[in-house]
Amino acid sequence: MNYPVVTGGAGFIGSALVRALLAQGAERVSVVDNFLSGKAENLAEVADRVEIHRADIREYNAIAPLLKGAPVVFHLAAIPSVPRSITEPVPSHESNIDGTFNVMRAAQEGGVGRVVYAASSSAYGDTEVLPKVETMAPNPKSPYALQKLVGEYYGSVFHSCYGLETVALRYFNVYGPRQDPSSPYSGVLSIFMTKLLERSAPIIFGDGEQSRDFTYVEDVAGLCIKAWKAPAATVSGKVYNAGNGGRFTLNEIWRTLCKIEGVQIEPQYGPDRAGDVKHSQADTTAAVRDLGHAPRFSFEDGLRRTLEWYRASLR
Ligand code: UD1
Repeated sequence: MNYPVVTGGAGFIGSALVRALLAQGAERVSVVDNFLSGKAENLAEVADRVEIHRADIREYNAIAPLLKGAPVVFHLAAIPSVPRSITEPVPSHESNIDGTFNVMRAAQEGGVGRVVYAASSSAYGDTEVLPKVETMAPNPKSPYALQKLVGEYYGSVFHSCYGLETVALRYFNVYGPRQDPSSPYSGVLSIFMTKLLERSAPIIFGDGEQSRDFTYVEDVAGLCIKAWKAPAATVSGKVYNAGNGGRFTLNEIWRTLCKIEGVQIEPQYGPDRAGDVKHSQADTTAAVRDLGHAPRFSFEDGLRRTLEWYRASLR
């Protein structure tokens, strides 16, 4: 395989990365996806330049030949929900830990140039200090947070023990076009936007004063590519925050969305959600310094673009 591989490439973030790779000059991109949450339609615009392989990262023998010899593997395939990992820990463990081990092993045995791994800022848990910086001790509060942290450790150990080039990016809350709003486990902004366009009230878990560093999907895709290109001596085996550095509460966001739409809808409030982190905000110093991280989308820009996409897709 002579071109980049994206596991989970038919998903919301993975498909944005595939489009970004092609836009930045990749001739073709190979996608490995089990289509559990990925969708072929996410890649429709670029289908003629994408090789799609329906395979599951839990099956080493199925994925190893697909990764062999690739210049880079972006490993995004996962079951990405905090609450789902609490209600269904087994599939979550199998994909996020066993699957990640299989990807690292296949990459190392197959001579892959570098693995860029989608880690999670949920690994920090609740910290006393904000923003959260990579030198803080992790403190996972859910199976998902722990699983994503184990994947980071596998990356750094495959680097130190076998010389595989790896970089882990701790995603903060990624949002943007194509995020699927249809499941109770969907990202909060995808749910807020569809509720807003339907003119109905969202349910906010807790008091709505929890905050997140929402990051526009194209900025994350751009950073993944930078993590591939950055000098190995500087970045290999390391972990970087992939956030924006800002922080917005759910109450603020719902108010802003209502203002953009010119409506007034009171949200409903429910109980706190198990495993939830209260606040999340990235210190981006290391990513800026070592990877050249330079987010292009302010939160308001990203919100407006995303809202327009949902409006068009509901039509
Ligand atoms: C999200 C990502 C996770 C990522 C992590 C990094 C999703 C689905 N999960 O987790 O993969 O690793 O960020 O920080 O994108 N909420 C409501 N009402 C709803 C849905 C959610 O109030 O209808 C609340 C939640 O209780 C939580 C906040 O919104 O406090 C964010 O939830 P969610 O979008 O599921 O993301 P995270 O759990 O932060």
